[in-house]
Amino acid sequence: MLDLPTRPARITQAGPFRPKVPPPLTQPLGLFAFLKKVRENPIATWMDAHFEEFVVAGETAMGRITVVSDPALVRYLLVERAAHYRKDDLQKRVLAPGLGDGLLTAEGEEWRLQRRTLAPIFSARHVSGFVAQMDAAGARLGRRLARRDGATVDVALETTRATLDVLERTIFTQGLPGDPDALGRAITRLLESIGPIDPLDVFGFPAFVPRLGRLRARPALRFFAEVVDTLLDQRKAALARGEAPHDLMTLLLAAQDPETGRGLSDIEVKANIVTFIAAGHETTANALTWALYCLSQDEAAQERVEAEADAAAGEDGALRLDRLPFTKAVMEETMRLFPPVPFLSRQALREDRIGRVKIPRNSTVIIAPWVMHRHRKLWDEPDAFIPERFLGERRERIERFAYLPFGAGPRVCIGQSFSVQEATLVLAQVARSVRLTLPADHPPVTPLHRVTLRPKEGLRMVAQRRS
Ligand code: HEM
Repeated sequence: MLDLPTRPARITQAGPFRPKVPPPLTQPLGLFAFLKKVRENPIATWMDAHFEEFVVAGETAMGRITVVSDPALVRYLLVERAAHYRKDDLQKRVLAPGLGDGLLTAEGEEWRLQRRTLAPIFSARHVSGFVAQMDAAGARLGRRLARRDGATVDVALETTRATLDVLERTIFTQGLPGDPDALGRAITRLLESIGPIDPLDVFGFPAFVPRLGRLRARPALRFFAEVVDTLLDQRKAALARGEAPHDLMTLLLAAQDPETGRGLSDIEVKANIVTFIAAGHETTANALTWALYCLSQDEAAQERVEAEADAAAGEDGALRLDRLPFTKAVMEETMRLFPPVPFLSRQALREDRIGRVKIPRNSTVIIAPWVMHRHRKLWDEPDAFIPERFLGERRERIERFAYLPFGAGPRVCIGQSFSVQEATLVLAQVARSVRLTLPADHPPVTPLHRVTLRPKEGLRMVAQRRS
């Protein structure tokens, strides 16, 4: 066992809060029922065995799949054998449209080069330089919600606005002269047109079959590219004058591969701007949405976050990040129960063996944070919301390869500290301004797995202004 809770999260007879999720299946589904379920909600296709055993291998409608949940084997696959497994085609088909050749979808030498070049941009030093922008975006969200005192708000929409706000201001601190919101508008149009995951991608139709989303995305992509081109030209001029502000665009333009000294081409800079937006906004927004939901169901944790946030604010209202350990623990526990990226998939480039299980060449290996984070051999009270797991000594007892919201190994999320810092600050700013409660007539809040994990029927909550 990784940890032992010392108090129930909600001091009621019912014990800690246990969010409602699709129950694991006890029997395998037939082919058509399986395909239908995968299409509706992939997380509803996991079986009891996945949450009880460390390796489950079998032939499926999508070929041979080995699901691995043993932390030691996950380490073996993602770290020691990383070179023998590559992100599989399914993931690339789903994620690649619009991402060009940014870090998320690049492979081989091109990926290695970009990763080396981009890693310093997301170092602790640079990320902590963005505290003010993130805190300000959180405060803007807090004010927006406080103005809606007594009204019902669409939480997923509001958190998405906040994470886009953060990206817009950390990528490009100054807007275009005369049009400060140009980048924000271009991002919104781009995201609206790419839309949700296309079922054709999941079912493996070849890339030449046109997809609605991609066709619709073309004009928006062009508009986006034009805005970013203009911003790039301006920034290069500012850099030449020695007047460039500290933001991701400056860092991207100045980045150099530490081994060769090579910088990024304009195309790579643009592809990575799209990548940071695509990889960073919905994931973080979903984590925040689930955190606000969990807090609304756990009064003790909600009060503790409010008290911590109030105490962490200086006279100007700005938050001190180091004074928000419990708020951060709430974010981490939320991403345990609702990992925004519920599974990672890899394709074996050569035959391998883990214990007695053979992994054939070209077969798929799945490492599913959704499964591992609720695995009965890995966690005490796996389905309960207990943020204290992530505090102090108990945090240290959590095995590195049992908790994988950001993946692990060479392809671990490059934006990990960026998004944890952002989510902690935004959650605390919201808690300072409003208390969000779930109306009694809200449909059940359960997760739906699209590219990320979101509440199936949305999340509408009533905002009550605090103080
Ligand atoms: C709660 C928020 C986030 C979660 C849960 C998350 C999760 C992940 C996961 C699981 C991976 C690894 C995928 C795999 O190995 O197959 C990943 C990769 C990546 N993430 Fe994140 N992410 C988040 C936020 C961000 C942000 C804010 C950014 C950028 C600003 C970002 C940029 C990336 C990039 C570029 C990669 C690819 C890294 C590589 O392949 O070298 N992510 N993310």
